[in-house]
Amino acid sequence: MRVLVTGGAGYIGSHTLVELLADGHEALVVDNLSNGFQEALNRAKQLSNKHFGFIDCDIRDAVSLGKAFAAFKPDAVLHFAGLKAVGESVEKPLAYYDNNVGGTLSLLRAMDAHGCQRIVFSSSATVYGTPHYLPLDEAHPLEPVNPYGQTKLMVETMLRDWAGDGRKACALRYFNPVGAHESGRMGEDPRGIPNNLMPYVAQVAIGRRDALNVFGNDYDTRDGTGERDYIHITDLAHAHLASLRALDDLADFEALNIGTGAGTTVKELVDAYAQAAGREIKCYYVGPRAGDVASTIACPKQAQAKLDWTARLNIDDASRASWHWQSQNPEGYGE
Ligand SMILES: NC(=O)c1ccc[n+]([C@@H]2O[C@H](COP(=O)([O-])OP(=O)(O)OC[C@H]3O[C@@H](n4cnc5c(N)ncnc54)[C@H](O)[C@@H]3O)[C@@H](O)[C@H]2O)c1
Repeated sequence: MRVLVTGGAGYIGSHTLVELLADGHEALVVDNLSNGFQEALNRAKQLSNKHFGFIDCDIRDAVSLGKAFAAFKPDAVLHFAGLKAVGESVEKPLAYYDNNVGGTLSLLRAMDAHGCQRIVFSSSATVYGTPHYLPLDEAHPLEPVNPYGQTKLMVETMLRDWAGDGRKACALRYFNPVGAHESGRMGEDPRGIPNNLMPYVAQVAIGRRDALNVFGNDYDTRDGTGERDYIHITDLAHAHLASLRALDDLADFEALNIGTGAGTTVKELVDAYAQAAGREIKCYYVGPRAGDVASTIACPKQAQAKLDWTARLNIDDASRASWHWQSQNPEGYGE
């Protein structure tokens, strides 16, 4: 397939790009580099040893996007481009609605104008809001508790309405993506203070930060710390390939959980990382953060059945891969 990859210079997009090229697809990346890296694309090129195109543009720029569609004539779109920080979305809600919802609207218009009928979208487990039960299945109520989650739900709604008459859309509700490419050449490189746990732990391990603040150790979990379902970035990338393969046989719109079905607590993740790095990770236990829940775990059965996909890697694999990346690239991509 010829696949247009929005947000392909970002964390998940760049890792998926490498797997996409290895699977024999052709790719064109569209990214405004607001949170992605040219160097990630350089490394994707080295690792895959394949050529792909790159257009530095915003997906809300209809003229540039239209030119990209006209020149590349994609069969499908992998849509990663978006803003993703929950806290920032509370401070700047309109920027999130503009980028995530407005960006997708612009993308769907370009797809319609150029007869492109397949899209796989990066949704998120945040669409569920506070869990009523675990594991979270796709029938769980959709009650996002912040603007970021609202934008993901709005995009899912747009895709549901757009799909039909040959148009196919699949929203993958990611749980917590972690890890790095096995080569150690690509990984997660947050700008500023990491919002996610594993990159924070990685920066403590490499000495860029002093210690990890663990928010809450009195939850109703195995060891009192919060529990999440961590999905290895390589498994996540493969879920996108599986979606592209399955798309024509799926319902016009599908929303599928992408997780492992197993939880890891903060303490277990820190222990796994310390083991992988052979270093102690200093932790301070502080009070719980407002809005955090004890546990979030996916029921991934629908994705397993409909995509013929299953997560194969675990938190130890992700910790080793992340440390390989972080120790070889202490300052990330270095831009
Ligand atoms: N990382 C996670 O924990 C997580 C979890 C669930 C869902 N997601 C979703 O997955 C997608 C990818 O996440 P990621 O972790 O790779 O984030 P990322 O920030 O590393 O990648 C997003 C990429 O999109 C680009 N981008 C953003 N807005 C754009 C625009 N308007 N036009 C063109 N390019 C634009 C950025 O420059 C960046 O390269 C996002 O939509 C995110 O919401 C991420």
